[in-house]
Amino acid sequence: MQVAAQESTSTIANLQAAFEGESNAYAKYMAYAAKADADGLHGAASLFRAAGRAEQIHAGNHARVIGQLGAKPTRTIHTFKIASTLENLKDALAGENYEIEKMYPEFIAEATAAKNQAALRTFHFAMEAEKTHARLYSEAIALVQGGAKGKWIETAHEFYVCPVCGYTSETPEEHEHCPVCNALWTKFETID
Ligand code: FE2
Ligand code: FE2
Ligand code: FE2
Repeated sequence: MQVAAQESTSTIANLQAAFEGESNAYAKYMAYAAKADADGLHGAASLFRAAGRAEQIHAGNHARVIGQLGAKPTRTIHTFKIASTLENLKDALAGENYEIEKMYPEFIAEATAAKNQAALRTFHFAMEAEKTHARLYSEAIALVQGGAKGKWIETAHEFYVCPVCGYTSETPEEHEHCPVCNALWTKFETID
């Protein structure tokens, strides 16, 4: 009995950490979007807004599971530095990679051990969506480094975000269903 209680406590702590991380990523990406617009990199601004929307969806999903486990979602929004758009893109990529390579794999391992299906699902959705963000940020970094002139990174660009898991795509109709959560592609949100 004691072991189960302890496992549940760490699942909730991990959900709170993920909720805080997603909430901070959202705040950061919105500020980075404003900076990218000011820098004339409107496509990068669109990407930050689309990824930010996905982080907001992740935060909401995590908060729901925290509530289901009888706890109250809590978070602190930290201060952060706004640099050049190239540096901001690199910072965003580093954050995504941390979540993909370390944070979510650890949280998924713990939720698996604790047999918490709801936590497992919300962590899995977020981790898979972060992979789409990492790919898009890497692409954006390469474009900015190679000279943005005439590329999508310069002009407002539509991205498509799954309202259930936050999967993010630059293609209007990539599949019929979301490859991560199976939601209908027609339900995707268009963000630019
Ligand atoms: Fe996220
Ligand atoms: Fe992300
Ligand atoms: Fe999805």
